[in-house]
Amino acid sequence: MPLNLACKPAVLCTFLCLAVPMLSIVKAEDPYRFFDWNVTYGFIYPLGVRQQGILINGQFPGPDIHSVTNDNLIINVYNSLDEPFLLSWNGIQQRRNSYEDGVFGTTCPIPPGKNFTYILQVKDQIGSFYYFPSLGFHKAAGGFGGIRILSRPRIPVPFDDPAGDYTILIGDWYMSNHTKLKALLDSGRKLPFPDGILINGRGRNGYSLTVEQGKTYRLRISNVGLQNSLNFRIQNHKMKLVEVEGTHTLQTTYSSLDVHVGQSYSVLFTADQPGQDYYIVVTSRFTAPVVLNTTGTLHYSNSAGPVSGPFPGGPTTEIDWSLNQARSIRTNLTASGPRPNPQGSYHYGMINTTRTIIVANSAGQVNGKQRYGVNSVSFVAPDTPMKLADYFKIQGVFKENSISDRPYGGRLYLDTSVLTLSYRAFVEIVFQNNENIVQSWHLDGYSFFVVGMDGGQWTIASRNQYNLRDGVSRCTIQVYPKAWTAIYIPLDNVGMWNLRTEFWARQYLGQQFYVRVYTDSTSLRDEYPIPKNALLCGRASGRHTRPL
Ligand SMILES: *[C@@H]1O[C@H](CO)[C@@H](O)[C@H](O)[C@H]1NC(C)=O
Ligand SMILES: *[C@@H]1O[C@H](CO)[C@@H](O)[C@H](O)[C@H]1NC(C)=O
Ligand SMILES: *[C@@H]1O[C@H](CO)[C@@H](O)[C@H](O)[C@H]1NC(C)=O
Ligand SMILES: *[C@@H]1O[C@H](CO)[C@@H](O)[C@H](O)[C@H]1NC(C)=O
Ligand SMILES: *[C@@H]1O[C@H](CO)[C@@H](O)[C@H](O)[C@H]1NC(C)=O
Ligand SMILES: *[C@@H]1O[C@H](CO)[C@@H](O)[C@H](O)[C@H]1NC(C)=O
Repeated sequence: MPLNLACKPAVLCTFLCLAVPMLSIVKAEDPYRFFDWNVTYGFIYPLGVRQQGILINGQFPGPDIHSVTNDNLIINVYNSLDEPFLLSWNGIQQRRNSYEDGVFGTTCPIPPGKNFTYILQVKDQIGSFYYFPSLGFHKAAGGFGGIRILSRPRIPVPFDDPAGDYTILIGDWYMSNHTKLKALLDSGRKLPFPDGILINGRGRNGYSLTVEQGKTYRLRISNVGLQNSLNFRIQNHKMKLVEVEGTHTLQTTYSSLDVHVGQSYSVLFTADQPGQDYYIVVTSRFTAPVVLNTTGTLHYSNSAGPVSGPFPGGPTTEIDWSLNQARSIRTNLTASGPRPNPQGSYHYGMINTTRTIIVANSAGQVNGKQRYGVNSVSFVAPDTPMKLADYFKIQGVFKENSISDRPYGGRLYLDTSVLTLSYRAFVEIVFQNNENIVQSWHLDGYSFFVVGMDGGQWTIASRNQYNLRDGVSRCTIQVYPKAWTAIYIPLDNVGMWNLRTEFWARQYLGQQFYVRVYTDSTSLRDEYPIPKNALLCGRASGRHTRPL
């Protein structure tokens, strides 16, 4: 396919445009942004102890990606670690393009000393997301950073431009390095409780944000940690929620916000207090009696003095508090999303679902080792990404429907679990959590409507309480202990998509599977061809991405 090399705006166009011919599938009329990233090990000291961190261009956390709806992002990643590496893009939908998703089921790892250029388009998206390293336990060492997608200039945003717009990456943290944590899991054990919480890579009192009195700021808060739900708050300041993973929300005011692992929220706050310093506080949820905490500083430019005394308390074990907050997070139906039409113009509640999938998490032992699973299957990665097996028609890598679409009470066993769902179907997924810890589920490739959540067992009667009007559309959702959460998804994105827990040890030990949305069509309207630069591994090694 010929490519029009007009990179717009020209200022984004570096010498790398010369390398553009391989980008045969991206739409030439949308702007390009180029990134050259070198992934290395480097020493970091977030909790005061020296650790080997994963840096991107020398930074921990990695650099933010700033983009506008429909931009093409050309990200050349050099793996300077001594082991294979992949980045994945939480919340970037990779429309028709699951090869770029950067998880093992779709993309071969970048070998040590090699590079790979991701070619993404943030098609029809706005909002706040993040990227992270998806292999092994790399996420415990860093390698993550914020992604923001701004609205195109002529599309109204339902609030005034803030005086500042900041990425806030919060997460629990271990002082042990990723190889040690992974070795613990490989040996069949569980991880200990984390050692602390970081805000933008800094430990206690390490992060500081300077504001001017009277001005309003936006914070894009993501929980990039490994397991714990966190509560975020700013002493004496209220936060107005404005966006959740790409949806403009009803602008409700909160004094603190629960951010479950993997989730992203945007809030506005006004520096409307007397000029001094205030605590930014993050504490762990549902972990009492042990509650992890950390603080940063909100510094007024006219500050008369530092923070003092105890930081404000927040919820610790209360589930109803969190459930009520979750239910209050709703879509502003009249606000625009990535397109000028109102977000409420897609009436998801009027569409009949064609299939119900019930996803139940469980924990257990397989061959004497700790594992986690979904509907009795504990996922194990095959030797070849399933997406490549599908493309090259390599038999024996995975079996279709190698996982039941509902729990049946069988014993936990190992398999490469793939559930095939019909392209263009409209499905209901119920996450049933019979364990007594909170869960957080993420689906790649999609944004879904959150229609309901409640305690106990989901039944058909639970549908009577669904929000079929203004449920929020997002990509990561919590399920409370001994409770369920239901979502609706229009399956309009062909590909192989990871459905996983964001609780990283559980993900690593099998609480995930892939959803295969397949079509025989070779039309570019349904799916893009395999990228010319795709790395090939396992049984796909030596194949050709294009006819010779
Ligand atoms: C990446 O960084 C390492 C360490 O600073 C350096 O040795 C290497 O040359 C860099 N690679 C690239 C491609 O910039
Ligand atoms: C992690 O720590 C162990 C020693 O505890 C060390 O042998 C290993 O090289 C470290 N790995 C990294 C990636 O720093
Ligand atoms: C690696 O980077 C070079 C430019 O330094 C680029 O030409 C090449 O396409 C990249 N490799 C892949 C597989 O993306
Ligand atoms: C919803 O969005 C509209 C349109 O931008 C805005 O005027 C209104 O204030 C918003 N309403 C709420 C409750 O957030
Ligand atoms: C915050 O954490 C520190 C260090 O673990 C602990 O000593 C302190 O008691 C905690 N504070 C609160 C209010 O929980
Ligand atoms: C949904 O199903 C109901 C009951 O079967 C039917 O009456 C209705 O027409 C269907 N709606 C649509 C939009 O297909």
